[in-house]
Amino acid sequence: MKTRHQIFFKNAQNMQDLSPGCINLVMTSPPYPMIEMWDEMFSGLNNEIEHSLKHGDAGQAWLLMNQELDKVWVELDRVLAPSGIVCINMGDATRKIEDRFQLYANHSYVIQSFHRMGYDVLPPIIWRKTSNKPTKFMGSGMLPPNAYVTLEHEYILIFRKDGPRKVSRKDMQKRKESSYFWEERNQWFSDVWNDLPGTIQDLPSARLRNRTAAYPFQLAYRLINMYSVQGDWVLDPFLGTGTTTQAAACSARNSLGYELEPNFRELIDERIREVPTFSEKVINQRLASHQDFLKKQKKEGKSWKYHSLNYEFGVITRNEEFIHFPLARNVKIVGEDRYEVYYGD
Ligand SMILES: C[S@@+](CC[C@H](N)C(=O)[O-])C[C@H]1O[C@@H](n2cnc3c(N)ncnc32)[C@H](O)[C@@H]1O
Repeated sequence: MKTRHQIFFKNAQNMQDLSPGCINLVMTSPPYPMIEMWDEMFSGLNNEIEHSLKHGDAGQAWLLMNQELDKVWVELDRVLAPSGIVCINMGDATRKIEDRFQLYANHSYVIQSFHRMGYDVLPPIIWRKTSNKPTKFMGSGMLPPNAYVTLEHEYILIFRKDGPRKVSRKDMQKRKESSYFWEERNQWFSDVWNDLPGTIQDLPSARLRNRTAAYPFQLAYRLINMYSVQGDWVLDPFLGTGTTTQAAACSARNSLGYELEPNFRELIDERIREVPTFSEKVINQRLASHQDFLKKQKKEGKSWKYHSLNYEFGVITRNEEFIHFPLARNVKIVGEDRYEVYYGD
């Protein structure tokens, strides 16, 4: 088996390289409007944004920044297949402009945008990032009433086009092989995630993640495994350092990525070359966690009814019998910014 991966160093507001309906899952995190590190980038897309910020018209700047993102959301709608899913990791922003501190609720703007495009708005996940920074509290010490609550979470917004996916008989086998474990389902489909970052995303490239607002590998990996099946096409219109490409390849999905910044080419290439090492680590970790889970079940006197057809262990439900994690063995460069990943057992 092989998967294909391609990066376009272009503006995702116009993804003319992609034909309508070719994408099954969008997994992405855009620049967050009103977070200062992105002011320059948004102003490069529309110079009225810089003007509004300079003249203290924060509300207008926020609106214009979100309108730049809207252009990408409209393009996504064109390339997404019926029943395709969009997962957007989005944070709100807090900012003081001319002595007025306030929240810019980006998640709420984006929900409205997809609602207007006719998408099903599915329950979002709150990704609670813990901060140990001593300066995390803002406001006036212990004196009421002017302090502000600390913003320590982001959202994973989930939208679906045209209702649930219908799986043909022919595709059923792939769907079964793409199952997740029962205990993973219980953790992954919870509406609050407070277990990320964990250990996997502390692996290589943490250096880059801090510099580039990258999300953890595990975040993209989980969502790709929750919302697509092996062999599907995953698109990230705001690719950054290539976390989505790496997670898609480790999940035996094909991927496409758009990124404005060509200086990320080397980093992305490095991350794709890491795929065989990463794939082995991630899969071994999933298998080991499942075996730990079974040991715990046994200790508690609980048993299981089914047995995996591909691995030497039990599983809780019939769905899981077919679980199969293809191991990425080789990465081949097949053209400029184009790769193929080959799998084995
Ligand atoms: C929050 S970062 C994404 C980080 C990524 N998830 C990762 O793990 O590295 C957003 C990225 O989107 C890129 N970007 C912003 N606007 C874009 C556009 N219109 N088209 C393509 N890329 C864009 C930025 O250059 C930046 O690298």
